[in-house]
Amino acid sequence: MIKMVMAQFFLIVVASFLFLPVPASASDLEIGKQFYQDQGCVRCHTRDGKGGKFGPDLLNTQKNRDREWLTAFLKDPKKTLPGAKMMAVKGTDAQIEALVSYLLSEK
Ligand code: HEC
Repeated sequence: MIKMVMAQFFLIVVASFLFLPVPASASDLEIGKQFYQDQGCVRCHTRDGKGGKFGPDLLNTQKNRDREWLTAFLKDPKKTLPGAKMMAVKGTDAQIEALVSYLLSEK
């Protein structure tokens, strides 16, 4: 009897690990952050006090821009901001979406 109870308990523990919800937004932020680093955005931009000064500080991006604007800008800066000097970001839609999530996050 006690063995049955323990087996059931064990199964419940294993099952709850399997069905633990994966926080999609958190991993999206991680992908975006990694992409930001891989693309060398820091050469021109500061975000947490470190980085280049050629482009504007991106720490407060989420206060000034929305998802739609950022996505359009990163894909085609000149079209979104006439006279822009920044080059278009090369990446898949998913990578750019994750990058925008990262830019819209507080840090
Ligand atoms: C060669 C330098 C350079 C690199 C590398 C660069 N940027 Fe920029 N970025 C700029 C400049 C300069 C601007 C200001 C607008 C312009 O002239 O293009 C800008 C503007 C921006 C803006 C608009 C800010 C605003 O609110 O007006 C965002 C967002 C941005 N960059 C994100 C990125 C991201 C993300 C990356 C990496 C994928 C990146 N930049 C890489 C130079 C750069």
